[in-house]
Amino acid sequence: MDIAAIVALAPVIPVLTIDRVADAAPLARALVKGGLPVLEITLRTSVAMDALKAIVTEVPDAIVGAGTVLHETQLREARRAGARFGVSPGCTPGLATAVTTAGFPFLPGVQTVSEAMGLAERGFRFLKFFPADAAGGLGWLKAVSAPLPGVRFCPTGGINQDNAAAYLALPNVACIGGSWVAPRTAMMAGRWAEIERLAAAANTLRREVSLPGGQPGPSSGSE
Ligand code: 3PG
Repeated sequence: MDIAAIVALAPVIPVLTIDRVADAAPLARALVKGGLPVLEITLRTSVAMDALKAIVTEVPDAIVGAGTVLHETQLREARRAGARFGVSPGCTPGLATAVTTAGFPFLPGVQTVSEAMGLAERGFRFLKFFPADAAGGLGWLKAVSAPLPGVRFCPTGGINQDNAAAYLALPNVACIGGSWVAPRTAMMAGRWAEIERLAAAANTLRREVSLPGGQPGPSSGSE
């Protein structure tokens, strides 16, 4: 599955920072049951890679990716652990070359038009816009829509249930990412039903994305 197919699977990619490996599978099950099968596990905790492996093994319906990938070594480890895609907060030329060489589905992060142009030139059509809310949010995405017609974004950072619909209503937004669907307090307390409800609510959000070249956009999660 390439990155276009992966981002088409659901309107929201939960961004998960997991502290206990034991939480990984029940958390993933709740999100998949709620209708969000594409999951980003941030590589920011000591157990992140083991959590990723646990989901790969125990929750086969989840499409698990590694987030906060900063360099090639993490990329290699994540692929070895079974990650199906990767996400980075920004991107270096080395990282871009590594994912391209590996043919690994990847959402590199950008914050500026020049960064987006550089990655588009290298063949990346789907980019993470990070940190979305702090870097210009809806206004930035609207402003770059005409000058960057071939690029679609996954804004992440500061998105929540109050502003999610506004992001997804933009035609250059393929999907959005965020941690609000799996709050830390609910995770720590094992409140999986609550997380499933939040995922189900996020899955009803509609997308308006149009893909370059006349391809149909991904359907909304509720369809
Ligand atoms: C992150 O890397 O932490 C993501 O951008 C999630 O941001 P959020 O917690 O604001 O959703």
